[in-house]
Amino acid sequence: MTEFEILHKDLMGRTGKLRTAHGNVETPTIMPVINPNLMSIKAEEMKRYGAEMLIANAYIIYRKEELREEAIKRGIHSFLGCEMPIMTDSGSYQLYEYRDVEVSNREILDFQQRIGSDVCVPLDIPTAPYEKREKAKEDLEETVRRLKEARSIIQGKMLAGVVQGSTFSDLREESAKRAAEIGFDMYAIGGAVPLLETYKFDTLVDIIISAKTNLPLNAPVHLFGAGHPMLFSLAVALGCDLFDSAAYALYARGKRYITSEGTIKVEDLRYLPCSCPVCSAYSINELKKSKDLLASHNLWATFEEMRVVKQSIAEGSLWELCERRCRAYPALLSGLKQMAKYSALIEKYDPITKRSFFYLGETSAARPEVLRYSYRLNRFKLSGNVLITATATSKGKDVENEDYDHVFFVKPPFGPCPVELAESYPVGQSEIPTEIDNEAKTVALQNVLKLLKLNNRRAKFVFLYESNWEGHPLIDEIEKHAEVRKKWLC
Ligand code: GUN
Ligand code: ZN
Repeated sequence: MTEFEILHKDLMGRTGKLRTAHGNVETPTIMPVINPNLMSIKAEEMKRYGAEMLIANAYIIYRKEELREEAIKRGIHSFLGCEMPIMTDSGSYQLYEYRDVEVSNREILDFQQRIGSDVCVPLDIPTAPYEKREKAKEDLEETVRRLKEARSIIQGKMLAGVVQGSTFSDLREESAKRAAEIGFDMYAIGGAVPLLETYKFDTLVDIIISAKTNLPLNAPVHLFGAGHPMLFSLAVALGCDLFDSAAYALYARGKRYITSEGTIKVEDLRYLPCSCPVCSAYSINELKKSKDLLASHNLWATFEEMRVVKQSIAEGSLWELCERRCRAYPALLSGLKQMAKYSALIEKYDPITKRSFFYLGETSAARPEVLRYSYRLNRFKLSGNVLITATATSKGKDVENEDYDHVFFVKPPFGPCPVELAESYPVGQSEIPTEIDNEAKTVALQNVLKLLKLNNRRAKFVFLYESNWEGHPLIDEIEKHAEVRKKWLC
């Protein structure tokens, strides 16, 4: 029986079921960080918010003797007072942040195993984004050594293989390949916190892609440190399944109110734009005074967004959710545009049919469905007289069809579509704004050109267009392969 079963797919994202010794977990999900020293929300309360799995830092427990002894005696589940699946981290982040970790890989793995963690993590070495390549490579070698050691230590528990390599794509790829060769129950992308803190979401997209394309598809992938809901849609679209959040508590401590589109300083709140149990029962002033209430709202908002992401996967609208979320903040838009550059790769994973296609701006022209449409234009084998009509209203119906052997209408951003397929997916299910932007026109005309070139031996083309297309430089190109007519002058 596989431990990870994929339920629905969209883009490179998926919903799935992860089986653990403490029950099943539906992914994508976020594991709230439980810190026995600090957290205001207790482990047993987490279920109420929608948590299905928790994460705790084994090193923080290990370094305090009384906590260590108690955790060993009772086991991590009883220690935290919760029977949900629990992943434990190794202290790598403390190693990166404070350089004060006084524990070996073997010691912390033995400890995780003894306390009965459901998913153990080796003491990998995160490399900061500004480090030189030599340092990143050195850290990567030591991480791989520790991963191998971990594989020989952990028995009967799940183990995560951590991917490092800083911002060097080839090192990320190598790191993922070597982790996959060793073989883990799940994989985790590490070293991302500095990118998240500085909003380098385009670079984050690169490192997720480099890792994901070299990891097995049938294992869940965790993105360490990504706890802000504004990033979930993008990270899930790229294939991340698990997230951890200390953000809900850390932001509350910084008096920040989390929404799916960003963060609001609590003193700037004049209204509560949320209807969670906290925001519906308390006033703004009460929220301003209580970090616990703020943490609670932050957690509700976090889980709500994960449900929105899951619903989008189930209905095939995850790209549209990414477009909505990533337009909330310029750095997120950079992330979205970076994702669009990987459209050809994403197309390989993306389901072939969906319910609809909503054009929501120029990044929609780069969607995998549009690219797939272009790949498949070679399926049209045309001969005789062919009309291609770029007119807003007609779908080719108002023209003298009988003069032609084939009639195509032009639907941006897809391009030429035979009238017979006017109601079929994807063109027939695509909704576009009345005023067509330049990207959509360009992609559509590129595809017209492609169709002309593919069939120029046996077909004679007429390209008819309306004034709203006038002046597009590709029309001059089209004129080399077709008789071009302007509709408003006919
Ligand atoms: N938490 C945040 N970043 C990391 C990382 O790179 N490795 C581990 N093990 N935990 C983390
Ligand atoms: Zn709320």
